[in-house]
Amino acid sequence: MKFIGVLAICAAFLASCTFSAPSFSSIKQLNTLYSTEKQAELEPLDWWQRTVVYQVYPRSFQDSDGDGTGDIQGIISRVNYFVELGVEAIWISPIYESPMVDFGYDISNFTNIDPLFGTLDDFKELSGVLRENNIKLIMDFVPNHSSDLHPWFNASVHREGKYADYYVWKDPKGFDEQGKPIVPNNWTSVFAGSMWEWNEQRQQFYLHQFVKEQPDLNYENRQVWNEILAATKFWLDMGVDGFRVDAVPHIFENQTFLDEPFNPWGNPDAKEDEYGSYDHIYTNNLPQVLDFLAEMRMLLDVYTASDGVVRCMMVEAAVDTVPLMGYYGTEQRPIAHFPFNFNLLGMTPESVADDLKWLVDRWFEYMPEGNWASVLIGNHDNRRASTKWSVGAIDAANMVNILFKGTSVTYQGEELGMEDRWISWEDTVDPAGCNVGPDRYEQFSRDPARTPFHWDDSRNAGFSTANKTWLPLHENYLVKNVMAENAAEESHLKVYKSLIELRATNVWKYGSQTTFVLNGTSVFGMIRAAPQSVDVVSFYVLVNVGEASTVADLSGIEGIPEASIVYTRSVGFENGDTMIGSEVRTNAVPLGPRNSLVLMYLSS
Ligand code: NOJ
Ligand code: MG
Repeated sequence: MKFIGVLAICAAFLASCTFSAPSFSSIKQLNTLYSTEKQAELEPLDWWQRTVVYQVYPRSFQDSDGDGTGDIQGIISRVNYFVELGVEAIWISPIYESPMVDFGYDISNFTNIDPLFGTLDDFKELSGVLRENNIKLIMDFVPNHSSDLHPWFNASVHREGKYADYYVWKDPKGFDEQGKPIVPNNWTSVFAGSMWEWNEQRQQFYLHQFVKEQPDLNYENRQVWNEILAATKFWLDMGVDGFRVDAVPHIFENQTFLDEPFNPWGNPDAKEDEYGSYDHIYTNNLPQVLDFLAEMRMLLDVYTASDGVVRCMMVEAAVDTVPLMGYYGTEQRPIAHFPFNFNLLGMTPESVADDLKWLVDRWFEYMPEGNWASVLIGNHDNRRASTKWSVGAIDAANMVNILFKGTSVTYQGEELGMEDRWISWEDTVDPAGCNVGPDRYEQFSRDPARTPFHWDDSRNAGFSTANKTWLPLHENYLVKNVMAENAAEESHLKVYKSLIELRATNVWKYGSQTTFVLNGTSVFGMIRAAPQSVDVVSFYVLVNVGEASTVADLSGIEGIPEASIVYTRSVGFENGDTMIGSEVRTNAVPLGPRNSLVLMYLSS
């Protein structure tokens, strides 16, 4: 009875918010209404834990000078958007000087901005505007390689002084009948073909784990560490709040230079020139990587110690969850604040609720105690979440991503439900696609997820005034854009913003996270339950992962009461019983295909 009473209060409270998604202030009020003094004893979360990190892919965010490619002034003009979303940090993909073969991940000057994006002054202006708006700035940082047009590489080609072994040089294994040099081993690049490129001038091969225009720096050489750490320091001095460190498993190579096993899995379709066909035991995730990163972290910690503001280190390592945990380091030797958790990229349109449960839980199964998790559903290297999970599941994907107990990363456009755009072979610019040719490019090209951002329904979606943008826009920008989604009664953007508001609650910050599966393999649930002493408001996400309508009966799920209130729901939800703010009986929650809900309840 008492319970129903409290529920009624909550319902009335939400009702007073006119049955739309409760506003930020109402959520905060919920906290103060139902929290006890115990709250004061809790460790507050730091910015890098609380925040959603919003990934800006600068080429495609906002173009200010009409050349068809985004730039820093463009980002400055859109800072209000980050504020509206409620994100507290942005990560910008590389804006350093670069010939742009890998669109900025091939750096020819680690301490300057590429003119395509602007100048160091523009950068300082951006940094200042972000600071005024309490938004942290995280730089992408690429330690593994430089561009082949970096002066270090040129000096290395010519064996000039200390630069002679800044890169990984190797003699040929021999010469074939035509007198062509033979590569030192079978190492195969991430972007297809040999990891070795012959240099006429030096008469040696150099190593490139990515494209040939991205020669790997030689981390066996201590001087290289110093150079890279000096570049890191340069940006710390410029006031950046942290780094997303690129491709860290590739930093070291085993010095035996032995062949890597080809297709030990017996895949009948394995191709000799593809990275995925080898077990990279000599070129990926070697233990020395952690030694280098630990030094980098120490440098960040010096800055943290100077003013108490954490300089955050997030690392990108495409390795399995278990070895990935090594990147947290230990209490004695901390490394990353967190490695990116890519598990949810494993979702496909065919995935069932058990798959989602497994992917969500896996991180916590292995994360060493005392650490903080992260999560994401997409980035500039992968299919967009709408394409990966299915268009109808984008709100579900955002719900799981944003309400997950950890730092969430949102790739620009996921909040709008942007989809991959098919790109013809002629328009393809990504080296990952170009390198494999017209027959296989669609499998490897990352262009489809990198098309310009949709601001409104004007020409080029308000992204640029150019006649031709660097990649074509998705045709659906006319309906899927910030302006339209802000104006619509319901939209992915509105759902997304309401999710971010929930991160301000104590239950999001301190609550537990448990998952369940119902209705065979179709319904997934994720409960964020309040610890008794802290809060009495809890919530959970409910997702129909399947394509058939279903009715979920939650009466067997521990802790879930007989009724809950709808906090938000996916776009296109047909059932009138699940209006935002309404109460649903938890023994029969109707869910249409790919529908999802966030429900709230008061713990007794
Ligand atoms: C990972 C980055 O995310 C990707 O875009 C890039 O091509 C490679 N690292 C190489 O830097
Ligand atoms: Mg390397």
